[in-house]
Amino acid sequence: MQVFSNPTQNEIEMAAKALKDGNLVAFPTETVYGLGADATNEKAVGKIYVAKGRPRNHPVIVHISSAKQLDNWAVEIPEYAIRLGSAYWPGPMTLILKRNSRASDYITGGQESVGLRVPNQQVALALTREFEKLNGLGIAAPSANRFGSVSPTTAQAVEEELRKFLGSEDLILDAGLCEIGVESSIIDCTQFNPVVLRPGAITKEMIEQITNLPVSLKADKSELRAPGLLDNHYAPKAKVILGLAAKQGDGFIALDQIPTPDGSIRLASPASIEEYAKDLYQALRMGDQLGLSQIYVVEPKGIGLAIAIRDRLAKASSGKRD
Ligand code: TXA
Ligand code: MG
Repeated sequence: MQVFSNPTQNEIEMAAKALKDGNLVAFPTETVYGLGADATNEKAVGKIYVAKGRPRNHPVIVHISSAKQLDNWAVEIPEYAIRLGSAYWPGPMTLILKRNSRASDYITGGQESVGLRVPNQQVALALTREFEKLNGLGIAAPSANRFGSVSPTTAQAVEEELRKFLGSEDLILDAGLCEIGVESSIIDCTQFNPVVLRPGAITKEMIEQITNLPVSLKADKSELRAPGLLDNHYAPKAKVILGLAAKQGDGFIALDQIPTPDGSIRLASPASIEEYAKDLYQALRMGDQLGLSQIYVVEPKGIGLAIAIRDRLAKASSGKRD
């Protein structure tokens, strides 16, 4: 495995070639780092599952360079999905659409739908474009972490987590800290109205504004075998507890106006909801690096991105409150 820091155009072309040759390339996006493979290469996508230790029946998102590539993967795309794509792509939004025959079971986890996203990050976009120049059709990429753990927002986090599981021809592209810090909004567009399956930076209000349709927020665990929808996901090794009651030696994460409880170790003091999203996963990882056994987290209030943060914290803590 090799790391390219602030990759040059030439290195991005090498990475596209590595994908085409069936290798894995971890790359930055504006949300979190992804672990990419050629979405048309079953063997290459299989390597993602092995590196992540992820069950085979979990679908992966296919990353494309623009909405023009949607027809390569999806059929019967509703008009509201087209409008969402024009409004928010490139951006932190994944659309779930009815799959075509190219979107095989090893991409969709056997479901009749496929997840597609145009990431808004220079390296990621350049990589999807270079890959398409080599006749690539899309890059399958889940978050670049081991199954169940916290998504990486830096290349160092990817390296620490996956080093042992990547091959000598695999690559990591390093472009620093991810701008947003929580995973994309996932919007099911296979129904009459859009349904948010995973909240993110593209909020319910933003979806309603563009589609003029009622939007529901729902995580149906019975129907969707989506890892992000399982409890106890997005979790560090330390026990995450929601609340203020941190004691001596516990980690503590809260907005900056909330004082640090006596004896606890402050892991992040974000000044805004945006900063909270950007710092959260790094702060949880730092808690593990310090060997803490418990991290107390005070959730942000309000709507928008705060909903996404609370969603991830609910999963990281499995709902444990003090
Ligand atoms: O921000 C993101 O979305 C990042 C970056 C790398 O793009 N990716 C990401 O991928 O978070 P992953 O695999 O860690 O989470 C994607 C979620 C999973 O919960 C997966 O099950 C769900 O999307 N998903 C993918 N395809 C789906 C489908 N056809 N139907 C329902 N859920 C799907
Ligand atoms: Mg993930």
